[in-house]
Amino acid sequence: MKMPLKSAAVLFTATCAVLFAAIAKAEDPYLFFNWNVTYGTIYPLGVPQQGILINGQFPGPDIHSVTNNNLVINVFNSLTEPFLLSWSGIQNRRNSYVDGVYGTTCPIPPGKNYTYILQVKDQIGSFYYFPSLAFHKAAGGFGGFRILSRSVIPVPFAEPAGDFTVLIGDWYSKNHTVLKRILDGGHKLPFPDGILINGRGPNGTSLTFEQGKTYRLRISNVGLQHSLNFRIQGHNLKLVEVEGTHTLQNTYSSIDVHVGQSMSVLVTADQPPQDYFIVVNTRFTSPIITTTGFLRYANSNRRASGPIPGGPTIQVDWSLNQARSIRTNLTASGPRPNPQGSYHYGMINTTRTIRLASSAGRVNGKQRYAVNSVSFVPADTPLKLADFFNIPGVYRVNSIPSAPTGGGIYLDTSVLQADYRAFIEIVFENNEDIIQSWHLDGYAFFVVGMDGGQWTPASRNGYNLRDAVFRSTTQVYPKSWTAIYVALDNVGMWHLRTEFWARQYLGQQFYLRVYTSSTSLRDEFPIPKNALLCGRASGHHTRPL
Ligand SMILES: *[C@@H]1O[C@H](CO)[C@@H](O)[C@H](O)[C@H]1NC(C)=O
Ligand SMILES: *[C@@H]1O[C@H](CO)[C@@H](O)[C@H](O)[C@H]1NC(C)=O
Ligand SMILES: *[C@@H]1O[C@H](CO)[C@@H](O)[C@H](O)[C@H]1NC(C)=O
Ligand SMILES: *[C@@H]1O[C@H](CO)[C@@H](O)[C@H](O)[C@H]1NC(C)=O
Ligand SMILES: *[C@@H]1O[C@H](CO)[C@@H](O)[C@H](O)[C@H]1NC(C)=O
Ligand SMILES: *[C@@H]1O[C@H](CO)[C@@H](O)[C@H](O)[C@H]1NC(C)=O
Repeated sequence: MKMPLKSAAVLFTATCAVLFAAIAKAEDPYLFFNWNVTYGTIYPLGVPQQGILINGQFPGPDIHSVTNNNLVINVFNSLTEPFLLSWSGIQNRRNSYVDGVYGTTCPIPPGKNYTYILQVKDQIGSFYYFPSLAFHKAAGGFGGFRILSRSVIPVPFAEPAGDFTVLIGDWYSKNHTVLKRILDGGHKLPFPDGILINGRGPNGTSLTFEQGKTYRLRISNVGLQHSLNFRIQGHNLKLVEVEGTHTLQNTYSSIDVHVGQSMSVLVTADQPPQDYFIVVNTRFTSPIITTTGFLRYANSNRRASGPIPGGPTIQVDWSLNQARSIRTNLTASGPRPNPQGSYHYGMINTTRTIRLASSAGRVNGKQRYAVNSVSFVPADTPLKLADFFNIPGVYRVNSIPSAPTGGGIYLDTSVLQADYRAFIEIVFENNEDIIQSWHLDGYAFFVVGMDGGQWTPASRNGYNLRDAVFRSTTQVYPKSWTAIYVALDNVGMWHLRTEFWARQYLGQQFYLRVYTSSTSLRDEFPIPKNALLCGRASGHHTRPL
């Protein structure tokens, strides 16, 4: 995959040589991917349905990269509808144009291709990519995305004998067009039909370990709405990484992975050689859906036996306590050689508090979901392109209040503006009786606190200002709040959304416009030369003529 810089450089014309130098130092290698996105028939729950394949695969191929690599991903859309891929947790620093959500990037028209050029700058860890438009995520098109540490940076555990991507998620046997039609018709998403592990239903997946060796599992919840519990019969899970942060290496018998989240665990094959159940089940639901796969010891021919191990109780406390135990290892390195604890986030004063409350309700007789009473509706033009080309009337800055109003739900193209380099507090307030999961593109944030009840300024007294986990997706328990600190060091238009995909689709999202009046390339790159243009940006030019 790796190609010498020389051959990569032909991608760039002389006019962007300066930019090129700014984006990538000469030592950062290029990796090239050619992806063909097609429809295909898949049978994950035993019945045929329409899936979205990448190069014929469901789930799609993994991306394996190393910190600071430049990725050139040429995506051919062979579907009959517009398509975009987005990269969950990949920060795309100074470059929200390639984020691959409709607020920043024009859809790839059917039969056309678009080449994403991203740099995985100053990041390590386990992530995934997924299709962001329509309800494509219900059909596949997702895959694992890992960023390994550079060889000179110490990793706080021994090199594992193997490294597996484990994509788990709830699944519907109805195809994505049918699900989208349900939502478009003003109805709620129904209960799922099953759970998949790496695209396979019950007993369809097995991972093979050699006895005595230790393996890394990179688990991502790529499902549409349910928190899942993951466990392996007779084996412990040692948590080592969460969305790019090396954690305190706590050992758990099972772990909750909320929708949209990723984490790495180490598993040692320290049991008698036979097969063991891998178990994944929905959390906080009635009924509970459970699926199984197998952890197989090489050369064993004893099948898994005994009852499948039970999961935690349905009460929220177990999960909340586990969440609080997930913390940053301050002495371990992250993407850089200096310890993760060298950034003392707890000593920085926040300059602004944004409070976000989710709500559900009906607008014009149809089911909608909102943040601070605003239910997002897409504009006719990506917001980021409207900014770049100065196209008026696409959206209004601060079209969403920065605290709950308690008013009824209304529709708007909601954009909240914040200052570049501000250090802010965001409080997610959940007054509903479901668990929520929120994600911010372009950033990782410190999860400083979560608790039951209503957040008040006094809640700050309980914040973890020392070793909170630094990640990009956080859960909010029912009738509870979660507080995060974010250093707004990445200029751009960034998607803030619920990971409950039907709620996201029906408006529970907005864009955080991290703004500076500076036009320096040190702060933000210009629009990529190859950017697709659409809506009112059509006919503009990405470079002066
Ligand atoms: C993508 O796959 C489809 C179906 O196999 C094929 O017809 C098409 O030529 C492929 N396109 C590219 C660019 O490889
Ligand atoms: C989607 O499912 C519906 C209902 O089962 C079916 O009529 C339709 O043909 C399916 N579409 C595709 C492309 O498979
Ligand atoms: C589409 O793919 C071709 C290679 O087949 C490439 O030359 C071209 O740059 C791509 N177009 C875009 C917009 O990325
Ligand atoms: C999965 O395999 C186990 C052990 O072989 C078996 O008991 C169980 O019934 C299987 N589950 C399904 C859904 O086939
Ligand atoms: C934290 O990381 C260091 C490596 O810097 C490692 O030696 C130590 O065991 C880790 N501590 C915990 C509690 O995981
Ligand atoms: C933070 O605010 C406190 C109280 O206003 C002040 O005393 C302190 O100097 C500030 N710290 C920093 C690092 O600005």
